This record gives sequence, C-alpha cells and structure tokens, in this order.
Amino acid sequence: MTHHTGAPAPSNAGAFRVVANSSPMPEAEREAALANLAFGTQFTDHMAHITWTRDGGWDDYRVEPYGPLTLDPAAAVLHYAQEIFEGLKAYRWADGSVWLFRPDDNAGRFNRSARRMALPELPVEDFLASVTSLLAVDHPWVPRVEESSLYLRPFMFASEAFLGVRPANVIEYLLIASPVGPYFAGGVKPVSIWVAQGFHRAGIGGTGAAKCGGNYAASLLPQQQAYDKGCQQVLFLDAREDKFLEELGGMNVFVVRSDGTVETPRLTGTILEGITRASVIQMLEDQNVTVVLRDITADEVVAGVESGEVAEVFACGTAAVVTPVGRLVSPDFDVTIGGGQAGDVTMRIRKALTDIQYGRVEDPYGWMRRVV
Ligand code: PLP
Ligand code: COI
Repeated sequence: MTHHTGAPAPSNAGAFRVVANSSPMPEAEREAALANLAFGTQFTDHMAHITWTRDGGWDDYRVEPYGPLTLDPAAAVLHYAQEIFEGLKAYRWADGSVWLFRPDDNAGRFNRSARRMALPELPVEDFLASVTSLLAVDHPWVPRVEESSLYLRPFMFASEAFLGVRPANVIEYLLIASPVGPYFAGGVKPVSIWVAQGFHRAGIGGTGAAKCGGNYAASLLPQQQAYDKGCQQVLFLDAREDKFLEELGGMNVFVVRSDGTVETPRLTGTILEGITRASVIQMLEDQNVTVVLRDITADEVVAGVESGEVAEVFACGTAAVVTPVGRLVSPDFDVTIGGGQAGDVTMRIRKALTDIQYGRVEDPYGWMRRVV
C-alpha cells in the first residue's frame, strides 16, 4: 500500500473491509451532539480495527461498528499494561474539507512507543489508512464549530489470554474518534499548575518518551492532588534531582522570558516528544524568536515570575493546543504569571498554529494532509 500526499486519498480504504453500523446515530441527534462538545465523551459510529498475531502478522483490517470489545479476563493488557496510544485531530476547514495535522509524525511516534513496549510496529501506511478509512465513513462527525475537531485515538494492546510475563502473541490495534471542543472546561483561559510532590513521571531508561497507558496511570494520583489544590494540571520535575521541569501530565511546557526568548526543556528520553512542541519551536524560530532547549529549574521559573523576568508560561499538546498557564503552585510557592492573563506570545503562537490547522492561512510547512 502507498499513501498519498495530495488530495483525498481513500485508496487505502480498500484494504479495510467495512462492516457498517446498522443503527448509526440519527443525523439530528449527531448534529445536536456536535453543537455541544466536551472532551472525549462522545464517539462516532465506527472504529477501525486490525489484529496481529506473532505467526500471521497484521491481518483482518476492518472498519466496524463502534462498541464494546469482548476480552478474555486473562488478556495481558489487563494485568501487565502492554499498551500504547496516540492522539491527533481531524480539522474541518471553512470549505467543508477535512484535514490532518502531521499524521506521519504520530505514526512514527506510535512505532517508537511500540518498540519500547515490545509491541509490533504498525506500518505507517496502515496507520494512515486506518485514519482515512474511518473518516471515509465517519467524516460527518468532524464538527464545524470554531476551535472544535474530531480527536482521533489510535491505540494498541495485548489481547492474548496468558498470565506469564512476556510480550503477548496476540495484539489489537484500534482507532476510535471523538468530536471535541476545548480540553479544559473553561475554554482558552489560563490554567493553574500544581508541581508534583514526591512523584515523578519517568526515570532514565523508563517509559517517559513512550506514549503508553502506564505513564498516565502513574500520573493520576498527583493529578488528583492537583485537583485537590484547585489546579487543572500537574507539572512533573525530573526524577534524578527533583529540580528540572519535565512536562505536565498530558502536555509539554514552555517559558517565555521578558526579553522575548522562549525556553522549553530539552528532550532527555524521559519526556514525550510532542508534535505540537516541535511545531511551536519551528514556528517561533521562523519568526526569529530565540528558542532555547535546556534544563530549566522550577526554582528559577518561580524566581523569574517574581522578578518579572519570566513573562509567560504555556502548555501545549494535541488536546490542549496551546494553553496559557496563569499560576504555579507547590507547598513552597504560589505565584501568578502575567497577572493571571494569557500572554501575547502564547496567544500569538496559538493563533499561528490553529490558523494552519484550520486552513485560515497557507501552510508553509506541508504539515496538513487532506483526507475528505
Ligand atoms: N506530553 C504528554 C505527556 C502528552 O500526553 C502529550 C499529548 O499527546 C504531549 C506531551 C504533547 O504531545 P503532542 O503535541 O504530540 O500531542
Ligand atoms: C493528547 O494531547 O493527544 C493527549 O494524549 C493528552 C491527553 C488527552 C492524554
């Protein structure tokens, strides 16, 4: 199979047999759902599904009705968490067409995650074909409301019924899709961040750079503590020195200095290599902004906020897009950034990124791929 770089490319869809949902959501109900969006609460009528066996490889490519899976209670994923996932979005442009943002990069990261979790790699063409094949039937679910999108969630897990601890011999790949509005309930408003106390997201040689479910399971207790402190997200510091910013539970982090320089933690193998992060860095550099990738301590950020040397902090990721951070909280400090208002650099980069994603400006990078 080959994938296309230009116009609609459902030619791969032929590889996926389609088992149509016999009772899809009625159009009026779907339109009502699409007019009232949260994050990750509603799902489209279908899902893509491929099964892998060690002997037979990837097989049985299908698009089938969205619905519960039948899993053996001994399925390895339920015991040992051999699982990875991705997150990307389909954007509806004003002319009705539907586009993906850098999907090849998600496919590439999916395979890096797969290697780390001893899961089989999925050919990039198959990853992309699963997306185009699902969208070929479920594209009416891509919302039209401003700043909304269809969040695509590819994932892969060990379904073999076996309790020994070794890489499973039967694996499922699925792709589900959820029409979404803003990740944070308040919309694009500055969020408050709790600095994790005594918990780390990833250690050297661990799974921090992989997008595996276990990383998120480990983040839930500190995330709960963040909620308890009135914060929406948790910031993790490095495990070795407990000093350096790594990332938030589900997004990367940037610091804007008062001289206009932008900083973000360098990749160390413990941080997820965000596609939004890479895009933001590239766009800023193209605007002649100096972007410094380095180890940044929480203490210097807090001191900088207090002295005025740090003007803005923002988080970014597929779900969060670019979200201003208005407050940093720990038992030792509670500082408000930029008067708790969204900063100019943050909002400019957010606009530059979303203008490309929604086709409001020319895409100078070749990041967008049309699917419908
Ligand atoms: N860091 C973590 C832990 C994430 O879950 C995500 C979201 O995918 C990101 C960073 C941002 O990555 P991306 O921009 O590729 O969505
Ligand atoms: C994403 O941005 O795609 C994420 O995975 C973050 C979160 C929803 C887990």
